[in-house]
Amino acid sequence: MTNDFFQSVAEDFGNVDQLISQSFTSDIPLVEQVARYLITAGGKRLRPLLVLLCAKACGYKGEDHIKLAVIIEFLHTAMLLHDDVVDASDLRRGRKTVNAQWGNPASVLVGDFLHSRAFEMMVDIGDLNIMEILSHATNTIAEGEVQQLANLRNLGLTEQTYLEVIWRKTAMLFQAASHTAAVLAGANKATETAMKNYGLHLGLAFQLIDDLLDYEGNSENLGKNIGDDLAEGKVTLPLIIAMKNGNKNQTSVIREAIKSGGIENLSAILGIVNDSGGITYTYGKAASEKDKTLASIKDLPSSVYKTSMENLVDFVIQRPA
Ligand code: IPE
Ligand code: IPE
Ligand code: MG
Ligand code: MG
Repeated sequence: MTNDFFQSVAEDFGNVDQLISQSFTSDIPLVEQVARYLITAGGKRLRPLLVLLCAKACGYKGEDHIKLAVIIEFLHTAMLLHDDVVDASDLRRGRKTVNAQWGNPASVLVGDFLHSRAFEMMVDIGDLNIMEILSHATNTIAEGEVQQLANLRNLGLTEQTYLEVIWRKTAMLFQAASHTAAVLAGANKATETAMKNYGLHLGLAFQLIDDLLDYEGNSENLGKNIGDDLAEGKVTLPLIIAMKNGNKNQTSVIREAIKSGGIENLSAILGIVNDSGGITYTYGKAASEKDKTLASIKDLPSSVYKTSMENLVDFVIQRPA
């Protein structure tokens, strides 16, 4: 799939990349080395893209959207540094994770550095509404990660609680990206709400697909290992559905794997998740979030940016990684 939606903000994107590399500088060489390692590995840069498109779709004419995009990417990267420690992951963006390369302490501490650098940059923008949205978002994301931790290996996890977790840990930052972009642009209340909902539903769709890819993706495309969620005892929607719809034998294979974190049976489990409708159901949920994402911005005036926002939804649903 082509990533045409990047085209409309290609120049801004160049500026974002430049500001990213200027902004993780530090007097402490290890900080810079670790930050550079992860940030230059790329990543999809979806959240900064969201900021740029949404600000432009709201008619923003200033320059602070570049800074806001960098802030959001730093918050995201800081969370990944912490998340990979918590999840004991060893592959990220096609490279060894920072925790695998330098150890857990470096990953946690450089995560703190990027998180606090993002807040310094927020103060530079100097908009209290934006600070309020972002501080609330980061707080909620932390709650989401803890809520997920508290539910590890929980065989009785409901779809409802699963959806709450992904709303907190992932959709919140997408929502904060699109919402703050609208606030920065001085959008009216109706547009602000439309933008906020756009990010929220896009973020839910994104995480549903991310969880699905853990059972049907391929590690090379993803740049992270498949089967990681199961190994961590993380119960996601494909598994919830497989446990609900599978026969006795299938359900017991899955329950055992969740309890032990063993992925020796991964290929059998992938088969069960698929046969029991876990993939189809999760995909259907993501498709319904896609519809809500598009409906949120239906009244937004037409522009090249709005078209890119619409195309971005398809990318999130169809992404191979
Ligand atoms: C990873 O997000 C964390 C999740 C919320 C699943 P991305 O898949 O957007 O990570 P990068 O930035 O592209 O590496
Ligand atoms: C990451 O969730 C969410 C945050 C970083 C807050 P996951 O643990 O599911 O993401 P991956 O699979 O490691 O990218
Ligand atoms: Mg993880
Ligand atoms: Mg995951």
